[in-house]
Amino acid sequence: MKARVAVMASGNGSNFQAITEASKTNRLSAEIVGLICNKKSALALERAQALGVPSVVILRSQFLNLEAWNLAMSEQLEKWRADWVVLAGFTGLVGRHLLEKFPNRFINSHPSLLPKFGGKGMYGDHVHRAVVAAKETTSGISVHLLNEHFDEGPVLAQKPVPVLPGDTAETLAERIKTEERKFFPQVLEDLLTGRIKSR
Ligand code: GAR
Repeated sequence: MKARVAVMASGNGSNFQAITEASKTNRLSAEIVGLICNKKSALALERAQALGVPSVVILRSQFLNLEAWNLAMSEQLEKWRADWVVLAGFTGLVGRHLLEKFPNRFINSHPSLLPKFGGKGMYGDHVHRAVVAAKETTSGISVHLLNEHFDEGPVLAQKPVPVLPGDTAETLAERIKTEERKFFPQVLEDLLTGRIKSR
């Protein structure tokens, strides 16, 4: 039976789309059972509709605290009977109680070679701006297990991507995302088929 994978995203959703397309074309042995979004305006929601993936918006502002918000997400994940949860550009914090429901099955992709350029506030273009400002010659992608701290869980796989002379955050972001849209579904497939171990 195929693994049931739920995705959480906050913005553009191009990785969500790449993962869903990989599952539809059998490059990923998973069924994408739903998308949780914490932003009403996220393009990811339109992509979900076009791809025929159920989606829900669960806003942090509708809940008193992190635990209550996480509980609402957890209930949705249970409704979908998700086995794995994949963060694809999700900006919210996932707390301990929610993580504990999916031990070793909460996966995130981050657009740098962790532990470099990770941590609170380091997401999307913020990461690429910092990499360019630091005059790095290599950046990349890290797929890692999630823990309670932003970008600190154990790394499962990494792919270096060159930073070229004259790169801006935008050109670097595009080069990394082009690679990430292939790399992330591939690493997920390796995890689901046991080629990479998450524990
Ligand atoms: C991706 O590059 C992902 O690695 C990054 O956000 C981007 C989302 O792009 N995630 C983080 O920075 C997490 N700390 P997308 O919405 O087009 O998939």
